[in-house]
Amino acid sequence: MNVPEFFSLDIGNHSIKVAQVKREKNDTAKLLHVGAVNADLGMLEAPGDDALAKIAEQLKQAKDAAGIRTNNCVAAVPETPIFSRLLSIPKVDNTEVEEAVHWELKPLIPVPLEDVDVAFMEIGEAKKGEQTFVDMYVVAAPKVLTTRYKRLAQLAGLNLLALETESLANTRAVTFNHPTEKDILIFDFGAFSTDLIIARDGVPVFAQSISTGSDALTKAVAADYGLGMQEAEKYKRAYGIDFKLGDGKVAKSIEPIMQIIINEMSRTFTYFKERVGETGANKIYLCGEAAKLPGLSDYFTQKFGLTSILVDPVARITMDDTTRKELEQLSPVGFSVAIGLALKDA
Ligand SMILES: Nc1ncnc2c1ncn2[C@@H]1O[C@H](COP(=O)(O)OP(=O)(O)OP(=O)(O)O)[C@@H](O)[C@H]1O
Ligand SMILES: [Mg+2]
Repeated sequence: MNVPEFFSLDIGNHSIKVAQVKREKNDTAKLLHVGAVNADLGMLEAPGDDALAKIAEQLKQAKDAAGIRTNNCVAAVPETPIFSRLLSIPKVDNTEVEEAVHWELKPLIPVPLEDVDVAFMEIGEAKKGEQTFVDMYVVAAPKVLTTRYKRLAQLAGLNLLALETESLANTRAVTFNHPTEKDILIFDFGAFSTDLIIARDGVPVFAQSISTGSDALTKAVAADYGLGMQEAEKYKRAYGIDFKLGDGKVAKSIEPIMQIIINEMSRTFTYFKERVGETGANKIYLCGEAAKLPGLSDYFTQKFGLTSILVDPVARITMDDTTRKELEQLSPVGFSVAIGLALKDA
C-alpha cells in the first residue's frame, strides 16, 4: 500500500510533537517539517470532550508552527493501556488465523474481546514435535482509547489514516537510522512512563510500559533537598545519575527510582531470553527526551554490562538547514516516536 502524504502525531504528557517526512527512492528520506508545543494533558488522562478539545487546539498550534499543510495524520497510542505479546499459535489456514489469535488472546487480557481492537503480525515459524507453530506479534488496544483518538481527529479537523503503538514507531526510527543487531532493547524514557521494547530483526516482539518516568526523578530531588520542581528539574538535568557530578547528591537521590526501572529491565531481559531463546538483547537504544539524563548510558553499562547508545532519529534523514536548526532546538532524541511514525510507508 502506498500511504498518501501525512504528518505524524505524538501526544505525550509533556509535549505534543509532530513531523512530516518524505520517503524517497533507494530507501532514503527527507524531513520536511517538525514541531512541538508544551502540553499538560496526556491522552490517557483526558477522557472528556472538553479535554480533547484543548488537546485539539494544542495540536493545531504544533502543526501550524511546523508549517504542516496536510490534514492527513498518523498518531501513536501510548504503550500503557496496550497489550502486546509474541504468541505461539498452532499453524492454521489463512481463513482461520484471526480466530486462532482471538482464542489465544482471550485468556490473557482482563477485558472482553469485544472491547479491544486487535492487530497481529507473523514473525516466524517453529516446529514443536509434529506440529508447526507460528510466532505472532499480537497487539490489543482498548476501543475506548482508539475511539478517543478518532474523536480528537474529528475535533481538530484531521483525517486519521492510522494508529500505531509507540513501540512500533520507535522500532522503525531505530532500525531506519542505525545498523542494528538481531535483538535489541529500546528504552523510551518519558515524563510519566518508561517503555521497554524488545525488537528482533526490526520488529517489536515485546513491549512493556512502566508507570515510572523522569518526572518521578525530579520529585525525588525536590523532596530530598526541599526544592521547587523547576529547580529540582535543573539539578536533575545537570547531574543526573552520574555519581561523580556534584558530589553524587542528585544521583543518590534518584537512584532508588532508577532501581525500579532497572528491576523491570532485568525482568524483561530474562523473560525474552526464556521465551525466545538465543543470546537475548545485547544492545540498548535510548530515546525519549529524558534519555538525556547525564550518566544514563554508563549506569546501564555498569548494571547490565551492555553498551547503550542514544538514538539519533535523523541519522540517515536529510533536511534543509532551517529544519535542521528547528530540530536541534527541539532536541532530536525526543522525536524518536514522531519521526518513526512519519517514516511509515505501508
Ligand atoms: N536534558 C534533560 N535531562 C534529563 N531529563 C530531561 C532533559 N530534558 C527533558 N527531560 C525530561 O524528559 C521528560 C519529557 O520527555 P518526553 O518529551 O519524551 O516526554 P513525553 O513523551 O511528553 O512524556 P510521556 O512519554 O511520559 O507521555 C521530562 O520528564 C523531562 O524532565
Ligand atoms: Mg513520549
